[in-house]
Parts: sequence; structure tokens; C-alpha cells
Amino acid sequence: ASKLGCKKERTLAMIKPDAVTKIGDIIQMIYSENLLVTKAKMTKLSWKQAADFYSEHQSKPFFNNLVQFVTSGPVVAMEVMGDEAVSAWRKILGPTDSAAARSDAPRSLRAQLGTDGTKNAAHGSDSLASAARELEFFFPSTTSGGPSSTAKCADC
Ligand code: PPS
Repeated sequence: ASKLGCKKERTLAMIKPDAVTKIGDIIQMIYSENLLVTKAKMTKLSWKQAADFYSEHQSKPFFNNLVQFVTSGPVVAMEVMGDEAVSAWRKILGPTDSAAARSDAPRSLRAQLGTDGTKNAAHGSDSLASAARELEFFFPSTTSGGPSSTAKCADC
């Protein structure tokens, strides 16, 4: 059961191929906002895995470009934990398009480390439900309880 008022959440952060060499800066930005990195894994996604991960966008005109980019090199998936982690990590990221981020949120991660609408450095789950799905995608649960349906922290 959830503790009333508990704001601790888990979210999925994924460093995209263009920013994997900037992992040090990214982890620093996460910790400086009082979030924790509680799991991390570097992997290279197959086309099928990336298409599955981004399946909600399959009908979008940019879908092939997105899958192509995210499979062009390794990614680093991380479980990030803390107060309202889903929105806190999205705030660190800034606007989706790095060029827009440079004018609208110049201190954001994408403004500093991304390039444009495709090469935008990192991904963040957009809701608790997406976080649960995306964490399960990269870090499948091995406990007998099966996949967690929520990205609320277990101790809340
Ligand atoms: S939408 O339509 O509002 O849901 O799309 P948006 O939130 O802007 O973007 C969803 C993800 O698609 C990526 N994206 C692109 N990738 C490659 N090329 C182009 N043109 C492009 N446009 C959007 C965008 O970076 C988002 O990726 P994630 O990893 O979710 O941040």
C-alpha cells in the first residue's frame, strides 16, 4: 500500500547514443537535483527492441528516424529515484528539441548536451505508467511478484 503523501518515484532515464560520452555530466546533473541513480545498464538496442520501446510513436512521421538514431550506437538506461522523479527528470532534460531548449531553457540538459530534434541527448518517461513499463523493459523484474504496475517506490 502507498503511504499517503509519499512523493518518491522511480523513472527511466535513457542516455541516447549522441550523449553516452557525456555520462559523467549527466549523472552529476541528476545528483545535483537530489535524485539518485539506482540502476544503470549500457546496451545496444536492436531495431526490434527500439521499435518496441517507442511503440507509442509508431504512427508518427519521425518514427523510423527515431529508431534509426537510437540504434546507431549504445545507450545507457538508468533507474532514477527521488521526489517526483518522473517530472523532476523531465525538467532536467528540458524541451524535446535541443535547439528550442537552447532558447527556452538554456541550462537544461538537452540545451547543453543535445544538438537538434533528433540528437537530443536523453529520454525520460512521461508518466508513472510509462516509467513502470520502461523500467520493466530495461530492468525486468526477477521477483516472484512479477512486474510492478507502478513506479512509486516500494517503501512508500
Ligand atoms: S509527440 O508527437 O509530441 O508525442 O512527440 P515528442 O514528444 O515531441 O517526441 C517523442 C519522441 O520522439 C523523438 N522525436 C524525434 N526523433 C527523431 N527525429 C525527429 N524528427 C523526432 N521528433 C521527435 C523525440 O526526441 C522523443 O524522444 P524521447 O526519447 O521520448 O525523448
